[in-house]
Amino acid sequence: MEEATSLLFPLLILLTVIQSSSGQAYLDDLPMTDVIDENTPPKTPLYTFYLRRCTDPNPKARIDHSNPPTNFFNDPIVNEYSDLNSYKIQITASSAAAFDSDDVNLYQLFIKVDCSGRLLEGQLFLQVQPSEEPQCEAKFASIGETVQVREDVAPFTELYKVVLRRPSYSTLTYKITQPSPEIFSIDNGKVQVPASGFNYKSGNNKFTLQITVENAKGKSCSGTLTIEVLPVYHNTVKFTSVSNTVVINENQFPAINVTRVKASGDHVLYELISPTTAYYIDQELGTIRTSRILDLEKNPELKQSILLIRAYNKYHHNDSDIITVNITVQDVNEMPPKCSPAVFVTEVPETTPIETVLSRFSCFDPDVSNTIINFQLMSPASSRYKFRMQNSALQVNSTLTYDSEEMARNNFQYTANILVTDNGIPPLTTVIPVLVKVTRVNQYYPQCNPGTQIFAVNENTPLLSFIGQVNATDRDYADIKSNNVEFSIVDGHSPRVFFIAPISGAIHLLSPLDREVRAQYKLTIQVADVNNDIKPDPINQKTITCIAIINVQDFNDNPPECKPPHYETTICSTLMMTSPIFENIPCSDKDDNNRFSYAIVGGNINNRFRIRNGALYHSGFSYNLQDVYDPLTFELLIEVTDDPPPRLSTTVAVIVRVIPCPTTILTTTQKTTTQKREPQIVTLTEFYWAPDPWFVTVMTITGILLLAALAFLIWKILSRTTYCMTTPKEASQPLLQNKNVPDIEAHVAKEQQPNMNQKEPIPLSPLSLQFDGRAQDPVSGRDYLFNSRTGERRWI
Ligand SMILES: *[C@@H]1O[C@H](CO)[C@@H](O)[C@H](O)[C@H]1NC(C)=O
Ligand SMILES: *[C@@H]1O[C@H](CO)[C@@H](O)[C@H](O)[C@H]1NC(C)=O
Ligand SMILES: *[C@@H]1O[C@H](CO)[C@@H](O)[C@H](O)[C@H]1NC(C)=O
Ligand SMILES: *[C@@H]1O[C@H](CO)[C@@H](O)[C@H](O)[C@H]1NC(C)=O
Ligand SMILES: *[C@@H]1O[C@H](CO)[C@@H](O)[C@H](O)[C@H]1NC(C)=O
Repeated sequence: MEEATSLLFPLLILLTVIQSSSGQAYLDDLPMTDVIDENTPPKTPLYTFYLRRCTDPNPKARIDHSNPPTNFFNDPIVNEYSDLNSYKIQITASSAAAFDSDDVNLYQLFIKVDCSGRLLEGQLFLQVQPSEEPQCEAKFASIGETVQVREDVAPFTELYKVVLRRPSYSTLTYKITQPSPEIFSIDNGKVQVPASGFNYKSGNNKFTLQITVENAKGKSCSGTLTIEVLPVYHNTVKFTSVSNTVVINENQFPAINVTRVKASGDHVLYELISPTTAYYIDQELGTIRTSRILDLEKNPELKQSILLIRAYNKYHHNDSDIITVNITVQDVNEMPPKCSPAVFVTEVPETTPIETVLSRFSCFDPDVSNTIINFQLMSPASSRYKFRMQNSALQVNSTLTYDSEEMARNNFQYTANILVTDNGIPPLTTVIPVLVKVTRVNQYYPQCNPGTQIFAVNENTPLLSFIGQVNATDRDYADIKSNNVEFSIVDGHSPRVFFIAPISGAIHLLSPLDREVRAQYKLTIQVADVNNDIKPDPINQKTITCIAIINVQDFNDNPPECKPPHYETTICSTLMMTSPIFENIPCSDKDDNNRFSYAIVGGNINNRFRIRNGALYHSGFSYNLQDVYDPLTFELLIEVTDDPPPRLSTTVAVIVRVIPCPTTILTTTQKTTTQKREPQIVTLTEFYWAPDPWFVTVMTITGILLLAALAFLIWKILSRTTYCMTTPKEASQPLLQNKNVPDIEAHVAKEQQPNMNQKEPIPLSPLSLQFDGRAQDPVSGRDYLFNSRTGERRWI
C-alpha cells in the first residue's frame, strides 16, 4: 500500500502542475485511494484534499453518491487554505459511522465541488482495513455503565455482560482490575453477584469495577461498571391472629363494634379489601363496625360474611398482611309466629265425634332462623280434655255436651287458647283464641223417675185439688227454666177424673172420688221432650209413657152398719152378772174401720146394764115388790161409733126382757124357764161427738111412749095366753107368746141343760122375722115397722 502511494505521488504532482499551468480551478489530491481502520470512531476526519485556483469565495463541496450507498460519511467540510485561491476540503466519518471490514471493505465516494458555477468532480476510494484490537462499547469504555441491584438478589446472579462493539475472533480474556481484592467474579464477560450477596445495611452499597478485555495478541480495551445496591424493605406488618370469627345479633344500631383486628408493625393502617357495604373498618384502630342496621329478614345474605382485612405500613404499602374475619349475624327472635286463622270460632253439634278435626292452623314465623313451630292447647277447667292438638290440627278429644248447667252458664261454648311458639331464643308465642259453640241435639229420651209412680189421694179431696206431680226428666238440656218435658194423659177415663198440667206434671182431680166405688186409677202418661234439638219440634222429639197409679184413700164417710139393726133377748133375772147378755153386736163399716166403740145411751133404767168391749152385762135386778121393782123389759139404746175421726155412730136398740126367776126353780124345773123373746130394735144414727140434748129428750119421751105401747101390747097378749108359771113373789109378766118358734125354744132348752145355773141370752131371728110390714104413723109422721101377726111395731 505504501509502495503504491509512493508511486502515485509524483503522478499527482504532475497533474496538479498541468492544471495550474492552464490557470483553471482544479482538485488537488483527487482521485485518490485511502485506507481507513474499521475501528475508526464516528466523526473522525478521514481524508483531506484541496481545491486550487478557485476564485469563488464560497465554493461548495458534496458527496454526490457513494458505492455502496452509506450514511457513514458527513458532507465535506470546506475551509480556506493558506495558499491563494486554495481551499482545504475534509471528509469525516458521520456519527453513524460504524465501519466493518467484513461488511464493506471499499467505499467509492463521488465528490462534486462547485466553484463559481464550475463543477469539478473527483473520486475517493476508501479501503476499510480490519481492526486488530478488541473494541469496548463506547459508554462502557468512556464514562462507564451503571447497574442497580436489590440487595436480596441471589448470589452468582448475572449482573452485567461486557459486550464488545464487534465480536472478536480471537479468544478474549476478561479481568476485573478494580476493586482489588476481587469481590465480584466475571465469567466470560458476565459479572456475577458475589457469593456472600449484598447487605445494604453494611454500607457497601456502591461498587465501581474496572474491567479489561484482552485478546490473544495482547490488545485490550477496558471500561467501567458501577454497581449500586438497592435496599430491600423487610415487611414488618403482621396480624396477631390468623383469623377471626365473631357472632353478632341482627338489628342492632349502626356502627356497632363488631370486632377489632390488630396487626403488629410500624405505621399500621387497616383497610377492607372485600367489597361490602354492611361493614366498615376504622383504618387506624382496626375496629370493624356495621354501617347500617343488619336485618336478616330483609337481607338474609348477611347471615354469613367473610371480610378480608388488610393491614399495611402507611409508608410501604407493600408491607402488608391479610386476615379473614368471619362474621355470623345471628337472627334475633323478634316476631312471634303469625297464624291463620288468628281466631277460631265455630259451631258444632254436641254429638261431633271424637277425633273430628275442627280446624288446621297454618303458622309461619317471619324470623329467618325460626323454622319449628310448636302448638300447645291451653284449656280452662270448663273445656279440659275436650280438645287436643294433633300437630297443627285442632281435634275433638272427648265427647262434647250441651246438656249441663255449666255449659249453660258458659253460653254453651267451650273456650281454649292455642299457644303457638317458635324456636327462637327466647321463644315467642302467639295465642289463638278458640271458641267452639255447641248446638243441642236431642240425644236422650225423657225418663220417668220412677217409671211407675204411685200417688195417694183422699176420697173426700175437693175437686181441682193437687194430687201429685209426675216426675219426669230429660238429660238433654233445654233452656226452659222448669223442665223440658211435656205431660199428657193418653188413656183418659170418661168422664175425666184427672188432669195433668203439661209443663209441671201436676195431677189434679177433676171428678169426685169414692173409694167405695173405685179404689185405684192407673193413668198412662205420655212424656215428650221439648225444645231439645236445634231442629224445631217435633222433628227430633222423643216420647215415652209412664204409669201413674192413684190410690184412693179411705175417708170415714160411712157410719157403722149393724145387722140386725136391733136385738131382743130374754133373760132370767138370775143370770150371772159376769155372763154377757150377748157377746157383741155384729156391726160393719163400708169404710176401712172395723174397730167400734159402744156406749149405752138410753133405756138403762136403774143403771142395770153396762157394756164392755161390745158385750152387754147386767148388774142384777130387783123384783122385790116391797122394794125397787125393776121393769121386766128394758129398751136399751146402744150407740156404736166407728173409729178414725170424723167418727160416725149408729144407735142399736136392744130389748132385754127379764124373767124374775127363783134360783131354786131354775135349778129344778126346766119348764119354768120358758122365755119369751121378742126383739124390738130402734136404730138411730147420730154423730157421736154432737148429741143434741133436745134429741136425747125426744128420744127418751119416744122411748117411754113406746114402752107404754109395748106394755099395752103385752097385756093384750097375756090376757090370751099364759106360758109361764110364776111364783107369787117373783112372778113375772108373761111376755109375748112365741108358738111359732119352737125350734128356738128347743135350742134354748138344750143350751140350758148343761149349765143349770146359767141362763144364756140367745140372739133371736133377724128383723125380717119379726116385722113384715112398714107404715107411717099418721099422727107423728114417723115410719115404723110392724108385725102383721103380732101387731108389734118398731119406729124407724
Ligand atoms: C370492640 O370490641 C372488641 C372485642 O369485641 C374490643 O376488644 C374492642 O376494644 C372494642 N372496641 C371499641 C372501640 O369498643
Ligand atoms: C410492591 O409490589 C409490587 C408487586 O408486588 C411492585 O410492582 C411494586 O413496585 C412494589 N412497590 C413498592 C413500593 O415496593
Ligand atoms: C364462619 O363461621 C361459621 C360459624 O362459626 C362457620 O360455620 C363457617 O364455616 C365459617 N366460615 C368460614 C369460611 O370459615
Ligand atoms: C284427651 O283425653 C284423654 C282421656 O280421654 C286425656 O287423658 C287426655 O289428657 C286428653 N288430652 C288433652 C289434650 O286434653
Ligand atoms: C225427680 O227425680 C229426680 C231423679 O230421681 C230427682 O233428682 C228430682 O229431685 C226429682 N224431682 C222432684 C221434683 O221430685
